Amino acid sequence: MSSPEREIKELSARLDRWSLAYHRDDSPLASDAEYDRALRRLRELETAHPHLISRTSPTQRVGDKPLDQFTSVRHTLPMLSLDNAFSGDDLEAFEQRNANKLGLSVLRFCCEPKLDGVAMSLLYEDGVLVRAATRGDGTTGEDITHNARTMETVPLRLQGGDYPTMLEVRGEVVIPRAAFHRMNEKQASSGEPAFQNPRNAAAGSLRQLDPRITATRPLVFMAYSVGHVEGGILPGSHSETLSYLSRIGFKTSKLTQVVDGWQAAEAFVDRILEQRDEIEVDIDGVVIKVNDFEQQLALGFVSRAPRWAIARKFPAQEEVTTLLGVDFQVGRTGAITPVARLQPVFVGGVTVSNATLHNADEIARLDVRIGDQVIVRRAGDVIPQIVKALDDRREGDLPKVAFPQECPDCRDALTRDLNEAAIRCENSLACPAQQKGALEHFVSRKAMDIDGVGEKLLHQLFDQGLVSDIADLYDLTVEQLAALDRMGHKSAVKAIEAIEGSKATELPRFLYALGIREVGEATARALASHFVDLGMIMTASRESLEEVNDVGPVVASHIHRFFSRDMNRELVGRLIDAGLVWSLPKEQVALKAILAGQTWVVTGKLEAMSRDEAGATIRRLGGQTAGSVSKKTDVLLAGPGAGSKLSKAESLGVKIIDEDDFMRLLAEAEL
Ligand code: IVH
Repeated sequence: MSSPEREIKELSARLDRWSLAYHRDDSPLASDAEYDRALRRLRELETAHPHLISRTSPTQRVGDKPLDQFTSVRHTLPMLSLDNAFSGDDLEAFEQRNANKLGLSVLRFCCEPKLDGVAMSLLYEDGVLVRAATRGDGTTGEDITHNARTMETVPLRLQGGDYPTMLEVRGEVVIPRAAFHRMNEKQASSGEPAFQNPRNAAAGSLRQLDPRITATRPLVFMAYSVGHVEGGILPGSHSETLSYLSRIGFKTSKLTQVVDGWQAAEAFVDRILEQRDEIEVDIDGVVIKVNDFEQQLALGFVSRAPRWAIARKFPAQEEVTTLLGVDFQVGRTGAITPVARLQPVFVGGVTVSNATLHNADEIARLDVRIGDQVIVRRAGDVIPQIVKALDDRREGDLPKVAFPQECPDCRDALTRDLNEAAIRCENSLACPAQQKGALEHFVSRKAMDIDGVGEKLLHQLFDQGLVSDIADLYDLTVEQLAALDRMGHKSAVKAIEAIEGSKATELPRFLYALGIREVGEATARALASHFVDLGMIMTASRESLEEVNDVGPVVASHIHRFFSRDMNRELVGRLIDAGLVWSLPKEQVALKAILAGQTWVVTGKLEAMSRDEAGATIRRLGGQTAGSVSKKTDVLLAGPGAGSKLSKAESLGVKIIDEDDFMRLLAEAEL
């Protein structure tokens, strides 16, 4: 074998292995960068030696030519549907019926989540993917090979050597909820209509003539059975078949379980239903299958569904109800959120009477009217949403939803930033809704975590004029609290103790608690570890804020704007005067200030840490960091590949050290 040929083989095998580890096993073996590097190298080799390109190469997933039309595919074995069960009683009847037929009393079932996506059939000839098809009407589907190839979870070649000459694998194409939300955010920001739910989005993505579009959609294939087989022997039960499918390269559900008897199956249903919100894909029930293939064969089919399987359905995650009206709420940062008031409806396991309409754009996109029949979706732990107005059921002229012109709380004028969907009240310092929101945020668990001071108490304090901003909290007395309605002496003491107790805090918490727009916990942590010192953050320029991990121009300008307001700087001053002190969290503790008074510059590539981390470490040692070398620079920390900064430092006679020197210094400081 020539050496490019060998390298291509090795790279392809390695990329396949990494892809399986990532997609099938959720346990990556390589970083994204390593993967991309290997893929780039493979592309290079293939460009230089086109005759060595194989159809199953990881580079050959996305074709570049759209189809003119779909061709139809006849399924060798029909793709069936399932009978439904809605209760434990239905399951009991299902088991009895089948057990009687088999002359048994208890049956062994394989239970697995019923994935709410689109069915797909994949055909492998000698281990190579030759065709993918939709279910269609069960007998005839559409050829979607060009689209299936783009999905990383569809193996182009099966793993191992132990597969039949002809093997049809069936499963469900889904979009994980988190990816679905990201996908819809992207649609919205490019002015495209949102997808109603992950299933519709998956179906639409599979029915593209251009595979380049499908390739951008976060589709995942999860195998659940084998169809047509020729020339090979497969396991004798459904559960073993699932393990086999996983072995040859398919992602399968990790939640599958083999149980004996319908009661155990119903207990499985309860467990899955309880976890439903945390499972990363939408599931609409549990499929319960007789596990043994001989028993399946003996039981057979009725019309279009097998006798040996049943779908135990869950409460729907989408329902139809009536939009009664729309309220407008003012959030902590002034954004006005339209909230739909609904005729109460049972959806996703709870009764829902409110749903978010997000913003004015969303109202326009949905073109929803007061009195409309609407589809409400509640899935995962996200707030219920209106995903569609059923305009074909609209009778007569219904009023449009009118967005207010002024703040519903303080009556100030509303504004809308260019490039932003939110319409907001800019009167942040004097708008009661925003003031209350800021207080609620400040005491919340992930912020200052002031237990015993809840929303009701805060509103009471605010309405009585005892507290109008967060610093006022620290002036409260037990007597003031005890004098409030429904507040005993004991709870007053407890609340004051909790407020006192919050004074010793950590910098990231404090930063987060200030409620700066777009500064969530992660950003607050990044700011604290980058700057170490609050004063540095308060005086940082937009440019230096942008040097922090994950801080872009928008967040940087929010932070900068926040601290350039006198009111906010005063507020921080009052909090410090009240006795607030903070330390860095354990993982960010300050080291001995052995670099106090020195200015450092970091350049080149470091091994043990990134340049950002090195900068933070220098600051934790009391030093300052700068982005460029000048006469004021005391030390340049230079790794391999250092360029102009190194030559400048040399010409200025600045002290230059390498990473080893730096690590020694660090070890000293940690003593
Ligand atoms: S078994 C004859 N297992 O549900 C057996 N189907 O209503 C039918 N589905 O079109 C397939 N998750 O696309 C099976 N774990 C699962 C499933 C599942 C979802 C879909 C499948 C089928 C529909 C039947």
